[in-house]
Amino acid sequence: MTIGIDQIAFDTPAFYVDLRELAAARDIAPDKFTIGIGQDQQAVAPSSQDIVTLGAAAASRLQLDPKRLGLIALGTESGVDASKAATLYLQRLLGLGPWVRAVELKEACYGGTAALMMARDYVAAHPDRQALVIAADIARYGLATSGEVTQGAGAVAMVVSIAPRLLALADDSVHYAEDIQDFWRPVYTDQALARGKYSTEQYLRFFDLVWRRYQAISGRTIADFKALLFHLPYTKMGLKALRQVLPEATAAQQAELTAAFETSARYSRRVGNLYTGSLYLSLLSLLDGAANLQAGDRLGLFSYGSGAVGEFFSATLVPGFEAQLTAAANLARLDARRRLSVAEYEAVFADKVPYGPAAYQANPAWFAGRFLLIGVQNQERQYQALTE
Ligand code: CAA
Repeated sequence: MTIGIDQIAFDTPAFYVDLRELAAARDIAPDKFTIGIGQDQQAVAPSSQDIVTLGAAAASRLQLDPKRLGLIALGTESGVDASKAATLYLQRLLGLGPWVRAVELKEACYGGTAALMMARDYVAAHPDRQALVIAADIARYGLATSGEVTQGAGAVAMVVSIAPRLLALADDSVHYAEDIQDFWRPVYTDQALARGKYSTEQYLRFFDLVWRRYQAISGRTIADFKALLFHLPYTKMGLKALRQVLPEATAAQQAELTAAFETSARYSRRVGNLYTGSLYLSLLSLLDGAANLQAGDRLGLFSYGSGAVGEFFSATLVPGFEAQLTAAANLARLDARRRLSVAEYEAVFADKVPYGPAAYQANPAWFAGRFLLIGVQNQERQYQALTE
């Protein structure tokens, strides 16, 4: 029985800031951001957009079968409630039926992969069902911090089922977990704390560990992969990981893997860090942009969540996968975003839902998108779905 990703879609806020402009405002050489970090633009989420609205918008682009949908699993590390799963708001906004298992999973940027693997196991146990997997996040480090250039926002949604029309997931995951303190976010703040350099070292160490063990267990080598995809907190991070294993490949394959990586990084360069969704945005970017992919090609995926968990697994393209892609619409969505000045970005960044009991009204001037967080009344979030 083949289980895998049947459909995939993404969403990101309607606003962005140009990182050369941000570099200039911070008195930093622009090449540091565009070359040293590998980011060109950064999604800016107004307070009317959160993981619920972004996740709902991404999932609304999928064709779900209400009779078969049995699980909704949302991976996030920017949850809006310490108790209730954001999945439940999302289920209502999307008009999905009640006969589902609906949960939220957390382990930093690994949460989306945890949701995907849970979905795969669920479908293995219930082959007549499909699962909706959502990875949604808003990455915030704070104005003028060293992490500011690695912020971003968005969501990726996927349908997991048997006989997938896009990608077959291999049952070959290798995962590694260890209690380290490289990045975390205490419950009283919406801004992450990171030991920046240390986190990048740990990312590479975890990749090395799971990659070596994957090869030992599966018997596969780098020659078996058409592309290697990475969690991209910023695209240079993934490039560093790729470079770590490139010497294992022939010169011709090194060129092919590098080109595939660049294709996989295109969307992230324009959106920034999606935390849980970043690996899957790089998958979408590769699928949308690589002209040389064929059914049967094997892709390797490395997921990393600070704290930390690392996982490497593979997936193969299935015949007819091209019919599941919506590259033109995805690019059009990115192109249609409004560019904010640095001053506008800073104003949007500062206007946020309070971490406290006060009522809050989101500024209608920044309303954009099909799903909105209107505000907070009596400590309850008020969402609205607009009809298209
Ligand atoms: N032209 C070209 N390149 C330049 C340059 C210039 N003028 N100036 C500097 N650079 C290069 C540097 O040489 C460096 O390149 P290398 O890494 O290849 O050596 C690069 O730009 C970055 O420079 P710094 O190391 O000086 O950058 P920094 O100290 O400002 O911090 C960071 C970078 C640590 C990533 C910081 O942005 C940060 O803390 N980000 C948040 C944490 C993070 O994203 N960690 C990633 C791993 S953890 C994870 O993956 C989970 C997650 O999503 C958070």
